Amino acid sequence: MCGIVGINGSRPVSPLLVDGLRRLEYRGYDSAGIATLVGGQIDARRAEGKLDRLAEKLVGEPLSGTMGIGHTRWATHGKPTEANAHPHRTDKVAVVHNGIIENYRELRNELEKKGCVFASETDTETIAHLISDYLRQGMSPQEAAAISLKRLEGAFAVAIIFAGHEDLLIGARRGSPLALGYGDGEMFLGSDALALAPLTNRIAYLEEGDWVEVYKDKAIIHDAGDKIVERKIHITALSGAMIGKGQYRHFMLKEIFEQPAVIGDTLSTLVTPDDILTMPQMPFDWKTVPRVTIIGCGTASYAGLVGKYWFEQLARLPVEIDIASEFRYREAPMPAGGVTIVVSQSGETADTLAALNYAKSQGQKILAVVNVPQSSIARASDIVVPTLAGPEIGVASTKAYTTQLAVLLCLALDAAQTRGGITPQRSKEIIHALHQIPAQINAVLRDEHHVQELAHHISEARDVLYMGRGLLFPLAMEGALKLKEISYIHAEGYPAGEMKHGPIALIDENMPVVFLAPSDNLYEKTASNVQEVAARGGKVILISDKMGIANCGAKLFHSIAVPTADNAVLPLLYAVPIQLLAYYTAIAKGTDVDMPRNLAKSVTVE
Ligand code: F6R
Repeated sequence: MCGIVGINGSRPVSPLLVDGLRRLEYRGYDSAGIATLVGGQIDARRAEGKLDRLAEKLVGEPLSGTMGIGHTRWATHGKPTEANAHPHRTDKVAVVHNGIIENYRELRNELEKKGCVFASETDTETIAHLISDYLRQGMSPQEAAAISLKRLEGAFAVAIIFAGHEDLLIGARRGSPLALGYGDGEMFLGSDALALAPLTNRIAYLEEGDWVEVYKDKAIIHDAGDKIVERKIHITALSGAMIGKGQYRHFMLKEIFEQPAVIGDTLSTLVTPDDILTMPQMPFDWKTVPRVTIIGCGTASYAGLVGKYWFEQLARLPVEIDIASEFRYREAPMPAGGVTIVVSQSGETADTLAALNYAKSQGQKILAVVNVPQSSIARASDIVVPTLAGPEIGVASTKAYTTQLAVLLCLALDAAQTRGGITPQRSKEIIHALHQIPAQINAVLRDEHHVQELAHHISEARDVLYMGRGLLFPLAMEGALKLKEISYIHAEGYPAGEMKHGPIALIDENMPVVFLAPSDNLYEKTASNVQEVAARGGKVILISDKMGIANCGAKLFHSIAVPTADNAVLPLLYAVPIQLLAYYTAIAKGTDVDMPRNLAKSVTVE
């Protein structure tokens, strides 16, 4: 949440800052701003709303300078107005910040008593005044920053520039990510390596509590105790081109269509072409693991819930699953020798990271399924089994979800094989079925016009229900989440068997009900629920295979046919029509698909 960028260079910096912010806009888009040093003085431009507003403003009121900082905001403290937009500044410093300063009220009171006048409602402005106060007491910028950072409670990544110091940019991280980029005669800070992709591929990741003095030709990194430390420089494979929309109208659509390729890439690291599992060596023995705990937020938690079914059914291994924001405070007892699987696209979600740390404190081995290899979650884990989805920019997660499913199924198979819970034959069948998934998804994508037709009807609904059973129940919740976050239509996902325990009261002729009902062992049960909805005048939308649609016997409002596949891999396949349905419904409603209101891609605050 919130994207920050900082550049200490020798070229005009404004266009580079705006370009960096464009790559970070997925983190928040309530307002944006940049500040530079011009003749030793701080100057800034800020604008409410999306980054384009700032870019337009800069055309009329350009900002010169070769060193500066930039910010794209997801509002926490204070409305998304220009006054609350970052950078926040005094005559001495300008600051951009990602995170929340929890003790900002006390600090603000203290500073106001000393005569500081605040211009915004934000927690961030406190940092600018605090540092300025220490500067007024005669400290150097480095001393003032170091002492101020120690007084801040909460989570932050910051970038700071100082009036009169043309060659000094300071960055710091605690709880929120910050990457340091090495260029030739110029240096960079960014919330992630993506922001810096066109500028450099040489990236160091600050560790928890680090702060850094960034000069044009070097960086001096300090740890939380101010000791000078080295952090490894990684060569990233990211390029600026990887995050373009290509021929697609939206990132989300591009990412939906990338799924066959990225699922294939992910599988190629986990299974051989002749259907043999080639998982990395685990830092524990599946045979002696008493219980697996799976944690994630939102879509990642729904992938985890599918994982629970797989681990329990295939490996006969008990699984506890919880959303991270609950788990982190639940004080759950965890068994000795247990394994915690942490699922996250960004690898930076604050609640998930906190839940990981709790599990660690309970002696659990941590296995991360993440999409960003150098993320905080990846670095805090005992082993990472990555999803190779590539950068996911659309706020609504699509390809990250299906690649998470691919990894979780392979992990469950690994556990099942080690524990002897599955025959080699059955294991091979499932892997073979997984190998067919990219081609089968392509077939679903070729039929997208069916979903487009349906989406026009769904866009007129006020509420939509999604129903599924077994492996398809988590997908019902995922379908509802996708629809609500980008089309703003209220939707709920339910296990179909729960329908008679409450939600059936909602059924009338205005209520579309999407059933995910493949011809599997639970088909007949769900087909009865379909009848019950149809009998009450509900608009039934059936997503099934051809046989399931033909055998249903109820009056259907619409149906979407999906290829037949082994039951074990169906969640990967059925994910695609529900993603397309959400996407085209949002298009029909005219909402901003890639940047839906109030949301941000990477939730780095609680
Ligand atoms: C929904 C969505 C979110 C994320 C959640 C966790 O489409 O994208 O629900 O899944 O915020 O994010 P990560 O996976 O980055 O931890």
